[in-house]
Amino acid sequence: MRIIESITEMQQQADAWRREEKRIGLVPTLGYLHAGHQKLMEAARKHADVVVMSVFVNPTQFVQGEDFELYPRDLDHDARLGNEVGVDVIFAPQVAEMYPDGYQTHVEVTRITLPLCGRHRPGHFRGVTTVVTKLFNIVKPHIAVFGEKDFQQLAVVRRMVRDLSMDVKILSHPIVRETDGLAMSSRNTLLTPEEREQALLINRSLREAQALVAGGVRSAEEILDRVRSRVSAGKGMNVDYIELRDPESFEEVARISGPALLAMAVRIGKTRLIDNCVLQAAVESP
Ligand code: PAJ
Repeated sequence: MRIIESITEMQQQADAWRREEKRIGLVPTLGYLHAGHQKLMEAARKHADVVVMSVFVNPTQFVQGEDFELYPRDLDHDARLGNEVGVDVIFAPQVAEMYPDGYQTHVEVTRITLPLCGRHRPGHFRGVTTVVTKLFNIVKPHIAVFGEKDFQQLAVVRRMVRDLSMDVKILSHPIVRETDGLAMSSRNTLLTPEEREQALLINRSLREAQALVAGGVRSAEEILDRVRSRVSAGKGMNVDYIELRDPESFEEVARISGPALLAMAVRIGKTRLIDNCVLQAAVESP
């Protein structure tokens, strides 16, 4: 496994692979890998001959006052986990390599970035789509894998690829959870043991919503009331948003008729966690 820091070197490696007709798979990450990231690499491996994982804490997707400085970093740890799942190259550029002095170009998806994380983190998705575009231009992947944990991000990247005719196939991977249900996240390491316990309310409330829908409840208001009060009851839990939206248009959903995305972002102390599930009303017999 090689670690590449230079854009030119990465592009030369990608060109060499392409000349050999190798299919390139990319898994973009902020680093501080966990087993969820590794599942994405394994998925990439199934669809590609060579796998590149990028490790780059991208400053442009962190909003003012967020945890850019505090975001956990450990390239040795990432290299170890990447190696375990057969990653070929880690692309780990410095900030000045990606955004040199004079940088002034951005990629922006509009409508579907407005609600949810876009509303609560203005500018966040512009940072994501810009860096992902750069990574696609540098690594030149045939396929790229993104997790459903960041459901809106996945939809935004898909929209961008379609709208800008980018020649890369986007694959998704389901949310990988700890055995107690907490969605794996690099930010989980920032939780105190007490906060970690409270965080279980997130997944529990999603499952409760699924049970409500299975029991015939269709009103978004009823489901949201229940989930919001469950989560807010947790000590030190501050809800950024808990919403029900159409998983494609991201319009608000009033009644569950087709698939509905139940998405939430919750602050526990200083740590912000996100999770989601797609609620699906069982097909009713005629
Ligand atoms: P990061 O948060 O490191 O996540 C990298 C990828 O791993 C994303 O596609 C994310 O959805 C996926 N992922 C993280 N935790 C997961 C889990 N528990 N189950 C399934 N997938 C999971 O998302 C980013 O980085 C950045 O915004 C990035 C796309 C790299 C752009 O900077």
